[in-house]
Amino acid sequence: MKTIRAVTAMSAWSRTMRRDGVRIGFVPTMGALHDGHRALIRAARLACDAVVVSIFVNPLQFGPKEDLARYPRTFAEDFRLCEQEGTDTVFVPRAPALYPPAFETTVSVQRLTRRFEGCARPGHFEGVTTVVTKLLNIVHPDQAFFGQKDYQQAAVVTRMVADLNLETKIVIRPTVRESDGLALSSRNRFLSPDERAAATVLYRALSAGRDLIRAGEHSAKTVEAAMTRLIRAEPLARIEYLSVAHPTTLEDVQRVQGRDVLLLTVWIGQTRLLDNMVVNAR
Ligand code: PAJ
Repeated sequence: MKTIRAVTAMSAWSRTMRRDGVRIGFVPTMGALHDGHRALIRAARLACDAVVVSIFVNPLQFGPKEDLARYPRTFAEDFRLCEQEGTDTVFVPRAPALYPPAFETTVSVQRLTRRFEGCARPGHFEGVTTVVTKLLNIVHPDQAFFGQKDYQQAAVVTRMVADLNLETKIVIRPTVRESDGLALSSRNRFLSPDERAAATVLYRALSAGRDLIRAGEHSAKTVEAAMTRLIRAEPLARIEYLSVAHPTTLEDVQRVQGRDVLLLTVWIGQTRLLDNMVVNAR
């Protein structure tokens, strides 16, 4: 496995590969890798000839009051996981290489970023879309792999790539969960044992919402109310937002459409957890 730090070296590696007809699969990450990231690397491995994983804790997507400094950095373990999964190249750019002092251009997606995470974290998606554009331009992959875990991010990146005619195919892979339903996240490590137990409330609420819809409930408000009640019964949990939304526009729906996404963000103590579930009514 090769480790590349310089932007020019990464571009050159990719150019050589592509010239030889090698299809490149790309998994952008911020490190602190877990089995959710592992599943993305495996999907890239299966679909493409060579795999590039980037590890970059992107300062541009963290607000001034957010956890950039606290974000876990576990490089040695990350490299081991990448190597185990047959990654060809790990790209680890330094912040000044991506954002030199004269840097002043960003990419932003308009409507899709106004709600949910975009509303709760101003500037966050502009940081994501800017870094993803830069990474796609540097790595120039055939396919890039994202997790459904960050549903709005996946929708925003998909929109951006279509709107800007970028050549990379965006592939969205299902959320990897613990056996009790908790979605894997680098932030789960901050949960105390009590909080870890309480954190299952996200998946329980999503499952309850899904079951109601499948049982024939048509009112989004009723579904949201049932999910809210379930979460409020958990003393360590505080809802930031919870919504039944359209799966591509992310607009609120009044009546369940047949294919909808349940989106939520819940604080468990000091830890902010997000999760979602796509529901097809039967
Ligand atoms: P990060 O949080 O490291 O996540 C990298 C990728 O892993 C994202 O596409 C995310 O959706 C996916 N992922 C995280 N947890 C997952 C899980 N439990 N199951 C499946 N996939 C999961 O998301 C980012 O980094 C950044 O915003 C990034 C896109 C790298 C831009 O900086």
